[in-house]
Amino acid sequence: MYDFDKVIDRHNTNSLKWDSTDVKLPMWVADMDFAVVNEIKDSIIKRANHQIYAYSVVDDEYFDSYISWWKRRHNLTLKRDCLLFSTGVMPSINSIIRCLTDEGDKVLIQTPVYNVFFNVVLNNNRLLVENKLIYEDVEYTIDFDELEKQLSDEDVKLMLLCNPHNPVGKIWQNEELERIINLCNEYDVILVSDDIHCDLVNPGKSYNPVYSVDVSNRDNLIMCMAPTKTFNIAGIQTSAVYCENRKLYDLIEKQLLDDFNSMPNVFSICAAKAAFKYGDEWLDDMNAYVYENKKIARKYITENDLDVDVVDCEATYLLWIDCSRISMDAVDFYEYLKNSYGLYVSPGIKFGENGSDFIRMNIACPKSTLLEGLSILKEAILSLK
Ligand SMILES: Cc1ncc(COP(=O)(O)O)c(C=O)c1O
Repeated sequence: MYDFDKVIDRHNTNSLKWDSTDVKLPMWVADMDFAVVNEIKDSIIKRANHQIYAYSVVDDEYFDSYISWWKRRHNLTLKRDCLLFSTGVMPSINSIIRCLTDEGDKVLIQTPVYNVFFNVVLNNNRLLVENKLIYEDVEYTIDFDELEKQLSDEDVKLMLLCNPHNPVGKIWQNEELERIINLCNEYDVILVSDDIHCDLVNPGKSYNPVYSVDVSNRDNLIMCMAPTKTFNIAGIQTSAVYCENRKLYDLIEKQLLDDFNSMPNVFSICAAKAAFKYGDEWLDDMNAYVYENKKIARKYITENDLDVDVVDCEATYLLWIDCSRISMDAVDFYEYLKNSYGLYVSPGIKFGENGSDFIRMNIACPKSTLLEGLSILKEAILSLK
């Protein structure tokens, strides 16, 4: 049994979340305050004990661990020769954009979405096309009419899908994915699916990989996968790209190399292998724990009559909270929480203009930490009444 109630002091560990500001309670960046699976720690210690940390190569066992995990957990058979190592999902997406589109081309994203999706397009001098998700009755859906219009623009060369979606916590269903894939095929758009949140789902739920969808043509599909978000090892920087189209695969392989994204750090191989080999039980327990946290947060907000709405999330450990009913603008409310109360959440505006009424709260933490965050939220909201 794993102890997710245990509070671990993360200060003075060069933690981005805990050491980059002196706020009292950081609940922003998407990492967890939980200790990793023992076998991951043991694999790193074993490797560290060797005392030579020189250049490394990726072995077959690394890719086998992905193949086995996706088969076991997601019922998808990956082909060994379609997998590539990369130092991270964003480095992969960066390289994919660089080799499969040209400067001035358009890349489509579905907003509100993980903020780095904006940077990875704009930093490469590509143009952004925003397919805004429809928000109605505290729920998100895809605007397919608008999507088709946008994809039919011949300058749109690539679509970035967040599957499941950060920050709205949505698991895209097979029918939705089928429509997206077919539209991308029809208009010759490459579909890059970022699956980094795929294992972080409520008990009994599972995500749908694009390669599992029953479509006649998979030539435009690319998947970016990693154990880092799932197992709280983002600081180790390890991921994979999956592409069955040989021509695209070869271009991506070369670009990852040219962008210096294909050289593994010394711990990235053993940690990923240990995670995929020994992590099932920890993950199931952790997802159940976070699901309880979601229920606690919802109950607390309802019982205390806080004027915010929590979007129902089937995936991720992130609460996407609609603050449009409170009297303060959500961006100001984010500042107010941080500066007056020391609670650091993410401002929704970071995820796009249409996120401006929201805040995002990371609840992958012990219950006591969550309750502290909720009580600050309550105090701040009540102070505005
Ligand atoms: C959707 C999404 N993609 C990618 C990343 C980061 O991936 P990596 O650290 O492997 O670059 C994150 C981190 O929060 C994310 O939410």
